[in-house]
Amino acid sequence: MFKVGADFDKVQASRPEFKREREVTFTQPPNPNWKQGDGANDGGASLKKNHVEIDPHEDGRDVSSNYKLLISGIVPRPIALISSKSKDGKTTNLAPFSYSQVINHDPPLFTVGFVGPLEKAKDSLKNLTESGECVINIISEHFVEAANATAINAPYGVSEWDISGLTQAPSSVVQAARVKESIMSIEGKLVETKEFQSRVTPGKKTGVLAIIEGVRFWVREDAINDDKSLVDLKVLKPISRLGGISYGRTTEALEIPRPRF
Ligand SMILES: Cc1cc2nc3c(=O)[nH]c(=O)nc-3n(C[C@H](O)[C@H](O)[C@H](O)COP(=O)(O)O)c2cc1C
Repeated sequence: MFKVGADFDKVQASRPEFKREREVTFTQPPNPNWKQGDGANDGGASLKKNHVEIDPHEDGRDVSSNYKLLISGIVPRPIALISSKSKDGKTTNLAPFSYSQVINHDPPLFTVGFVGPLEKAKDSLKNLTESGECVINIISEHFVEAANATAINAPYGVSEWDISGLTQAPSSVVQAARVKESIMSIEGKLVETKEFQSRVTPGKKTGVLAIIEGVRFWVREDAINDDKSLVDLKVLKPISRLGGISYGRTTEALEIPRPRF
């Protein structure tokens, strides 16, 4: 991983080229002969290592250390590329959020964590709370640069659609557009928000959780099976967020049957 600085372009240029044709490969698990009680598959190597205990609020620890620690340790994270529209329909917005996850399927529910208080809400959150709607688009390899460009700190009213060059496709039940390039998009209605306070500076509002219900799914024709229940990973080619400015691809997978008692 590299810290962005003056010579980032040089480091980037020194790296191998992106292997666009790489397909998802399924391998065996590390120990295909694993049986109940076997524990880890590393022969006990991990048991010889010690851990460092960290109090997130210990003296002298900056909150940014918690941010860096969490986004580098809780990986890979799905990214919700959120498209939203102001209540009056005049302003559109597009931005990525990786404090995001699907948390239920009946009803389909999604969570997104917005950094900062409601009072100074990011444009996406402002639109989401005022209009009660958004579209969550899944990011694939074929538009990762454009999706990243939407994170720009543009002033309210400046559309990230133009900046990114991504294409608006009509939604069905919400006003905000879908990203046409996305293999999968979810039209969503806001269920509720919950605002959180800082532990370091009591009283200071620092984050907002939004719970969004998925009311319409869109999946590209070549990525969905006949009964509309499975998305093909080989077509989806999802991009995840790792630590710092790193993104991940999913190019290798393994299958392990679910245990039964
Ligand atoms: C990959 C990626 C993931 C991000 N995840 C989050 C997140 O989960 N929460 C957040 O508040 N900001 C996140 N950001 C930063 C926002 O995208 C950024 O603040 C953006 O400008 C917000 O846009 P808006 O003000 O138009 O809503 C992320 C940025 C990137 C590049």
